[in-house]
Amino acid sequence: MPHTNRKKKSSPTTAPGEQKKKVVVHTKRKEVLDEEGWVHVVDTPRTRRSIVSKGAKSLHAGDFELDGVQYINRTLDEMREEFKYWKKSWEADIASVELKKALEGRGEGGVKKCVVLGLGSLQSARREGRRASFTQLAALETLLSIFGLSLRAIRREKIPAVFQEPQFTDTDKQLLRELGYEVVEDPTAFGDIEENSLVYAIHCYADVYKKISEQKRPAIFIGTDVENSGRFTLSETAEVTAKALDEMVKQYEAIDFPQIRHDFSDTKIYWRKNEEAKP
Ligand SMILES: C[S@@+](CC[C@H](N)C(=O)[O-])C[C@H]1O[C@@H](n2cnc3c(N)ncnc32)[C@H](O)[C@@H]1O
Repeated sequence: MPHTNRKKKSSPTTAPGEQKKKVVVHTKRKEVLDEEGWVHVVDTPRTRRSIVSKGAKSLHAGDFELDGVQYINRTLDEMREEFKYWKKSWEADIASVELKKALEGRGEGGVKKCVVLGLGSLQSARREGRRASFTQLAALETLLSIFGLSLRAIRREKIPAVFQEPQFTDTDKQLLRELGYEVVEDPTAFGDIEENSLVYAIHCYADVYKKISEQKRPAIFIGTDVENSGRFTLSETAEVTAKALDEMVKQYEAIDFPQIRHDFSDTKIYWRKNEEAKP
């Protein structure tokens, strides 16, 4: 029976739950740092190959699967920690400063509700996917505070901020609700889009953008650059979507979303120019 001691070791440079596996070889024992930051002191040494192959599996396959999507195990507490980490990282990045600068003095009072589509699961087995979703959530909080929709205001004035993402897990929903947001099932959120809405839909698919274009014109739409014709596959839906979006953004002026890694690649902020929104 192998003997295992567990002790916590945290690293300031990696996100919670993202520690890479390290093997420290002593004379006869091995310390194995697992993905949750626990150090296991193992009497019976495992071969290097068995450690590497286990690590590779957890990197690509995830811990469980729902509707064909791979997820990793996370407690609510771990999710809180991870969000705290990526929020801090976003706030320290130049992109966050640039976003605040770009929006200074704009949109005050114009945005009264927020509709967030396709954030992605914060439990995705894809590390880059998780990182993008956490960062997009952190950036959204910056936007909300710029527009005066601080979380305090949301709670006090009950201004709705609605999230819709078919891939959300129960823990995703718990975290978002704890942060003061509403989570709804597809397709409820489309009906929540109004003239005073901020629609936040980063890297969504053509059918999501098509549905957005069929609603009332929101005050602000943040999504994939409409002018980029290569953004969708060449399907019939994609063509219809591209046309509908082109029509929609005629009433808007656009600025680039500040870049951080690929988390906001090809993303624009569209402002409705005229105060009168056309249906
Ligand atoms: C390409 S992913 C983008 C995820 C994340 N925003 C990112 O940038 O990595 C598109 C997301 O849209 C979600 N989605 C698909 N249909 C949707 C719908 N009807 N409403 C909201 N989200 C939807 C998918 O589940 C998927 O997570």
